[in-house]
Amino acid sequence: MSAARGFVELQGADGWESSIAARTRTSRTSAASDSANAAATADDEPHAADGKRGDGGLCARIPPLARPAATSCAIGVVCLLAAALAPQGSLPRVVVLDCWGVWAWINILLLPLWLWHLCRVLLAGMRATARFGLARAGLAPRGPSERAEPALVFGWLPAGDAFALLVSWLLLGAVSTWAWGGRALPAGFFDTPAPPSSELIFPDNFTWGAATAAYQVEGGLNNTQWYRFEQEFTRKDGSRAIADGWECGLAADSWNRFDEDLSCMLALGIKTYRFSVEWSRIEPRRGSFNASAMARYVDWTRQLRGAGIEPLVTLHHFTEPLWRTDLGGLENASMADDFERYARYVGVALGPTVDFWVSVNEIMVVALVGWLNSEFPPGRSGDLAGTMRAIHTLVEMHRAAYRALHDVDTVAAAGGQGRPCLVSVAQNVVLWSPANTWFPTEAFVAGFYEGFYNRWVLEQLLRARAVRGGPLGARGSGLDYLGLNHYFSQVVSLGGAYMHYDRTHFAISDMDWPLDPGSLYQVVMQYHRWSPDLPILITEHGCADGQVPDARRVDFTRKSLMGLHAAVTAADVPVIGYIHWALIDNFEWAAGFTPRFGLFRVNWLGDLARSWTDGGLLYKALIAENAAVGAGSRLQMPSA
Ligand code: BGC
Repeated sequence: MSAARGFVELQGADGWESSIAARTRTSRTSAASDSANAAATADDEPHAADGKRGDGGLCARIPPLARPAATSCAIGVVCLLAAALAPQGSLPRVVVLDCWGVWAWINILLLPLWLWHLCRVLLAGMRATARFGLARAGLAPRGPSERAEPALVFGWLPAGDAFALLVSWLLLGAVSTWAWGGRALPAGFFDTPAPPSSELIFPDNFTWGAATAAYQVEGGLNNTQWYRFEQEFTRKDGSRAIADGWECGLAADSWNRFDEDLSCMLALGIKTYRFSVEWSRIEPRRGSFNASAMARYVDWTRQLRGAGIEPLVTLHHFTEPLWRTDLGGLENASMADDFERYARYVGVALGPTVDFWVSVNEIMVVALVGWLNSEFPPGRSGDLAGTMRAIHTLVEMHRAAYRALHDVDTVAAAGGQGRPCLVSVAQNVVLWSPANTWFPTEAFVAGFYEGFYNRWVLEQLLRARAVRGGPLGARGSGLDYLGLNHYFSQVVSLGGAYMHYDRTHFAISDMDWPLDPGSLYQVVMQYHRWSPDLPILITEHGCADGQVPDARRVDFTRKSLMGLHAAVTAADVPVIGYIHWALIDNFEWAAGFTPRFGLFRVNWLGDLARSWTDGGLLYKALIAENAAVGAGSRLQMPSA
């Protein structure tokens, strides 16, 4: 019988379990003096008397307990190759990403098993070495293994296990770091205070903007699921939907104070205003449209254009009409058809004055926060299936809106810019970093979050072939530009709280988010590397600072823009603009009115008047300094 065959027979035909059983039997039936040597004896048995291995094929050479590790290595290599070869947005790439996610979780679940096995292997090696040494010194009875050479005592079985474990673990980290890693700014980048005026001149066609969303500022929107959530929802722990008993109510009354908001924009000098059209105003009942509400939005866009400000219109910013909620909301796939009808109506009305659109704001936030942790409507907790259904519907809604807006686009209509419309989502991206870059598992988990939370939806949207109704737009893709909302970074630490904010290096905002000023740079670099052809628009970035003066906002904005400037100028990343969240203080969803994001402060408990913040003054100065040398424009694509 060849040595390899003997090895295979010892394990049994069915792998791990029979191998372990065989080892257990061996140790139980050995003589008493052999019991301490059982592990080493079992390890020795596979080898031929001359210590050489036979030719049993690759499989027979891999020890059974190392097979999961070896399989994991193989999957890692395949993912690495596939990710490198598959074109961005293609189906194979999406499949690879999905496998990647599954692989991550399997690795995390297997980690304790592997660690246990590694200890077992090391212990067996130590015991065998000690036994060999004792036997050599004549202090132990001579047994079969005493004649073995040290190399055989350690044997290729435990060494193979340990090697496979180590390689797969390192590979895991290396692949993750390679695939997702960003590039940090040079150390000390923020140490020298750089006056915005002299340092931060952006390209001529770069746009400066500010944003709001209908429910957060307009007021009076009680035909939405958010209104119902505020009024009716109580969590299991007894807490109400909105903190501190706030209700959105009149909010900043922007529905009736657009002129005040426009004055703020003009005072700042911004050239782009992002706001959302409220679906429940436009279509208060299914299929019945409110022309006068639509006319007001048309009027706003005309006024904006007249003032030299490009409107960027969002169709869905977290809210839906109640009739839609009663039909099952995002869990009912017919949502996409209703959304398409609404998008078409708005597209026809605003087409002549609007070229830039955001279809859906923050798909992952809507789904995860609404279905996993009950912070948003419908207030579910831990409902994974619901989360997936919501993500799916939101992706379909983007596709439907993308098609509708392109279909009704009035390229050369009077008042328009003679440009085809451009549509994207606004995707919330978090900068995920491992606490220890040398620790592959942390790098890998950070990579998993990056892949799942940040990119999964984007990958789906770039998959042109999956779009209902055939090719999309001139670019044949589901995104004409890349809209990114970015606020904070998260640290992945398996030794710590698994995923947490870095509170030691950064100031913390009133949302309890770390103000990491280098993260905007890193996110932009990452996404440029991921999709070099898509121009990037920062559709939201900002911080909640309600103190007077708002020193954290000033510092965070200035430093973040220094980073963005480095990406745009030194690294030549095509970022077409920066839109600050928010123009004015707003209703901050489940957190109520306490966190203040505005460049202008709103007097919530009084007359709702808008007043300057220091952050607003900084932004104004920066825009003015750029304008003084001819830099800064309305929102446009790089080639325009
Ligand atoms: C949302 C905004 C929100 C902001 C600050 C973004 O995720 O789009 O509606 O106000 O974050 O929390």
